[in-house]
Amino acid sequence: MSLIVVSNREPYSPRVLDGGQVAWLPSIGGLTSALDPVMQRMGGSWIAWGEQFPGVGRVQLPVTNPRYTVERLVLSSEEVDAYYYGFSNRALWPMCHYFIERARYLQSNWEAYRDVNERFADAAARQYHPGDLIWVHDYQLALVPGQLRERLPDARIGMFWHIPWPAQDVFRTLPWDAQILKGMLGADLIGMHTPSYVRHFLSACESVLGLEVGRNTVVWEGRTVQVQSRPIGIETATFEELAASPEVETLSSRIRQGLQTMMLLGVDRLDYTKGIPERLEAFDAFLDAYPDLRGRVTLVQIAVPSREEVESYAQLRSQVEGLVGRINGKHAQNGWTPIHYVYRGLSREELVAHYRAADVMLVTPLRDGLNLVAKEFAASSRDGVLLLSRFAGAASELPEALHVNPYDHDGLAQAIHAALHLPLDEKQLRLKQLRERLEHDDLGRWTEAFLHELSLPDTLPDALLQL
Ligand code: ADP
Ligand code: G6P
Repeated sequence: MSLIVVSNREPYSPRVLDGGQVAWLPSIGGLTSALDPVMQRMGGSWIAWGEQFPGVGRVQLPVTNPRYTVERLVLSSEEVDAYYYGFSNRALWPMCHYFIERARYLQSNWEAYRDVNERFADAAARQYHPGDLIWVHDYQLALVPGQLRERLPDARIGMFWHIPWPAQDVFRTLPWDAQILKGMLGADLIGMHTPSYVRHFLSACESVLGLEVGRNTVVWEGRTVQVQSRPIGIETATFEELAASPEVETLSSRIRQGLQTMMLLGVDRLDYTKGIPERLEAFDAFLDAYPDLRGRVTLVQIAVPSREEVESYAQLRSQVEGLVGRINGKHAQNGWTPIHYVYRGLSREELVAHYRAADVMLVTPLRDGLNLVAKEFAASSRDGVLLLSRFAGAASELPEALHVNPYDHDGLAQAIHAALHLPLDEKQLRLKQLRERLEHDDLGRWTEAFLHELSLPDTLPDALLQL
């Protein structure tokens, strides 16, 4: 008996290096950051879209220390355009993040989405042996639980929804609202990041499908489906250890020496939900409001390219580059550049070194399912301050962060000022309290809780019994 994970994004993707050899580089994004360590510990198989080198069908990963198998599905470029860019990222993603004006609802994309979901369901059903647990992930695959239920009526199927579930007035703009709900209800257990996403989901089941719902349950086709709030944790101890390592310490001092000023930090996929232009505007407002701090504070913004074929993302890239140029042109003086903009992914060591070096971490999404960066920073920093948007799912879990409204530029500018002037003992106390929470509710506990609830008592995977 084993665990079968199903997601659109694969955990590592192959790239040919200059010397001609192939390297499997970690994918960047919350889903794979969370699930790779889970699979490294549990073993099992992971079914995902093989974007690069589709000829490589199965691979044992991570290559340096293989712990699990990835089955890489081949999708045609038409399928990718319609299912991934078209429906997942031009319809569901903006709608679930409350950007309805960016959502495009096209019948042809919907049909491709349904068909590609069938392909994932077929692949999972082929791998399945009685007693296995199937765990489907995220909005790209909402129909897979229902499609699997038709194939495997007795299987234990879990689904985790990594992004927000919006209020009913927003969800009902989707022409295929009933189909999405029915697809998800093929699962036995549906996990989301916050109680309010769960409430919105249950109210959609009630009003769209007319179902009977309880506090955390809904009855569908004679089965009781559990719907639970289970925010993902991080590998807290791993971040703490890495942050304390000599290598990260050296890198972190080098970053500070390079700046010679106090440091604000942003780390995001380049996505319009992350509030990067709003953050840059707030920094501009901060420099206007506190001229004595010009030359004494630098914003380092690390942005990793994402979904570049979708227009909103291409426009965002130009908008951000334009703003960086304008703000740097307006405020630069005596060799000081206010914003250092880095357009690439960082290695884990570089990332943690930036977290350690920062005085203030700006996690200011306009809307975010959870936001792992906030948790990673809190686990890595010694004396920094976390500014956290009230619209990130993690906000309710992290009360010791300074909560901000990313739409309020002046308010955010004042919050940056307050964060830079917080007394050291208060900063350290807040971080200590945050860390205690993150140590308690870490990734291991999240996995254990979800899989325990999904398993029938006599079918726990061996790796889970050893936890
Ligand atoms: P999302 O899943 O929407 O991208 P999260 O904050 O939940 O947002 O997760 C992002 C993950 O990707 C985190 O684990 C973070 O460390 C990683 N990440 C984001 N930006 C970068 C970057 N520029 N370089 C390396 N890793 C990054
Ligand atoms: C978010 C989504 C994930 C997705 C990730 C990266 O975390 O919830 O499902 O994998 O962003 O986006 P991408 O489109 O590159 O997979």
